[in-house]
Amino acid sequence: MKKLIILISVLSILISKNLLADEGMWLPVLLEAQYDDMVTRGLQLSPEDIYSINNSSLKDAIVLFGRGCTGVIVSEQGLILTNHHCGYGSIANVSTVNNDYLTNGFWSNDFKEEIPIEGLTISILVSMRDVTNEILSQIPTNATEKQRKDIANKLCKNIAAENKTKPHIDAVVREFNYGNAYYLMIYEVFSDIRLVAAPPLFIGNFGGDTDNWVWPRHTGDFSVFRIYVNQNNESTNYSKNNVPFKPKYVAPVSKKGINKDDFIFIYGFPGSTTHFMTSKGIDLNVNLINPIAIDIRTTKLNIIENYSRNNDTIRLMYANKRAGIANYWKKMQGETIGINATKAIEKRHSQEQDFVNWLKSIDSLKKYANLMDTLYHYHQLAYPYEYIDRVLYEAYFSNEIIRFVQRTIYDIQRGIDDSWANKWCYLVNNFLKNNNLKLEQDLFLSTFKYLDSISKYLPNDLLKNKLNTEKNIEKSLFINFNELSVACLKNKINPKTIQKDPLYVFTSKLLDWYVKEILPMEDYYNNKLDSLYRMYTKLQSYYLPQNKYYFDANSTLRIAYGNVKPYHPADAITYIHYTTIDGMVDKALWGQAEDYKIDSTLLELFKNKDFGSYANDKGELPIAFISTTHTTGGNSGSPVFNGKGELIGLNFDRVWEGTMSDFYFDDTRCRNIMLDIRYMLFIIDKYANAQRILNEMKFAQ
Ligand code: ARG
Ligand code: ASP
Repeated sequence: MKKLIILISVLSILISKNLLADEGMWLPVLLEAQYDDMVTRGLQLSPEDIYSINNSSLKDAIVLFGRGCTGVIVSEQGLILTNHHCGYGSIANVSTVNNDYLTNGFWSNDFKEEIPIEGLTISILVSMRDVTNEILSQIPTNATEKQRKDIANKLCKNIAAENKTKPHIDAVVREFNYGNAYYLMIYEVFSDIRLVAAPPLFIGNFGGDTDNWVWPRHTGDFSVFRIYVNQNNESTNYSKNNVPFKPKYVAPVSKKGINKDDFIFIYGFPGSTTHFMTSKGIDLNVNLINPIAIDIRTTKLNIIENYSRNNDTIRLMYANKRAGIANYWKKMQGETIGINATKAIEKRHSQEQDFVNWLKSIDSLKKYANLMDTLYHYHQLAYPYEYIDRVLYEAYFSNEIIRFVQRTIYDIQRGIDDSWANKWCYLVNNFLKNNNLKLEQDLFLSTFKYLDSISKYLPNDLLKNKLNTEKNIEKSLFINFNELSVACLKNKINPKTIQKDPLYVFTSKLLDWYVKEILPMEDYYNNKLDSLYRMYTKLQSYYLPQNKYYFDANSTLRIAYGNVKPYHPADAITYIHYTTIDGMVDKALWGQAEDYKIDSTLLELFKNKDFGSYANDKGELPIAFISTTHTTGGNSGSPVFNGKGELIGLNFDRVWEGTMSDFYFDDTRCRNIMLDIRYMLFIIDKYANAQRILNEMKFAQ
């Protein structure tokens, strides 16, 4: 008897430990399987408080910021918090060398000073609905993958169109886990968005690229925006008569802070994960495709860096682009290290073998016993095409010069009329206005050589043309843009000459080859892989317990949760769960990197310990904290809530040792990084004296 009790308690420890593993991002309408666990660990809200169809709920305070970030509504007047790096492009766009809000920060003093951001939108989810049956019931069982995709796409479009009831309503049907499920998402899209405040760069991007994807972190990664609407509280285009948006729900801000082991949850729009990726897929991606992409990006970054160092105009012009290239450049390096350090490929492989054994043990599923081998096989076959695609993108088609050449090709193919040269010259001038020509020339010439790495795949005539282009490249019109612009002025643009240009010719041929030879093969293998992964994930939904099976991130609204926790990434190293301004000052005073700076105002506040009501119990001013919550790109700016649904932070990053969590989540070392909301409040209040912003926020009691 005693033995049995011991056995049961050992089992329940194993089970509860298992429950504590925090991998997963859950659709708010599918929380049931998680809900009890969340409550046991500290959630005090009802499912209805989190997501309600009929009443206002927490979900109404969560916004999709721009195309790739999350934000949260914190006032009755449509005030939005997101990350500084999410607002970065907008802030850079409204900055000039004389009014450099990116470097110096921006604090509007009243509504009139808030700056409209052209092109920025914010969307709020109105509702989501499972439409899986409406789609799958229309797909014949014997449909090929291509037929299946065509039918599904058409149905998705139809359902979306039926539900787009007003111009500012966006309706989309999203596919989940390779087409195992479909949900209709309805959003209200707001397009009059204004910048309210941003801290100076040394706060908002403290640590810069040196600290990016790294813990310990001291970045004040926040910025403040506002939604404006018409008099009826409806979304509309910018007008100076517009008024602040009155939201359905306002997230209460809490100054209570966090302690080790606290339960937290994150509500946001994670972009994309591939957590079912097989060991083979991980291996190819991380060990063969990432390295060349990293190499190409290193080259680009060095060039942009060299030009920006002593030229503020160039620095501002390229700030956003450079940050974009650098971000995944660093992430890919972390992924490769993390995957290898955790032996993720071997572990995943052995999980896959367990799964195969399970299949074999069930009569009705035996026939799928080859599934994993087939998946590995198709990954291997797809690999060269993925490699070529990636090199072409990183080294060629993402270059501004080549994008311009491509545009010209499409333009000429569409037909030339009398006004053609005029229109094209307008584009030429635009190019010169928006880019630094010398920098772009350098970028192009130094990345072009990476096409050597796919030479062995190029057909003979294309290879010959490539060598020829290399020899004549300096003569290309597209390299000598200034001459182009002079020719434009003199009305001397002749499409026939352009069509003979070496870069025009080579790019046309390369595109042709890509479209005819590479894309179809890639499509073919992707279709194969998609249908295999659909089967695989379907079987996994039977194999895994209900609270372990989740849909890969796909930019839809999700909830993830975990606990504030230290981690132990390597022998003798443990990182505690939070940082303070002491660490920031240390880095600024003693650190080597250019990315660590502090100004005298903040230093003064630090020296006087003038932290207002924002310090923790120990009298320290907290900056950031980490948890076991599963997040990915797109979760930046996501609100972090305590068990009561009070806002205690903004998510902004992951730790270096765990960047591979999109493929492989290891709860001993995957941690997300969040801004402690108290630091943001401190900066707004004590550093910027922008009490106007705090006064309109709703604070938790
Ligand atoms: N790594 C974070 C994310 O993927 C933050 C990037 C912005 N910060 C930076 N220093 N570039 O978006
Ligand atoms: N920094 C990311 C973002 O911008 C978040 C992450 O990848 O962890 O969404």
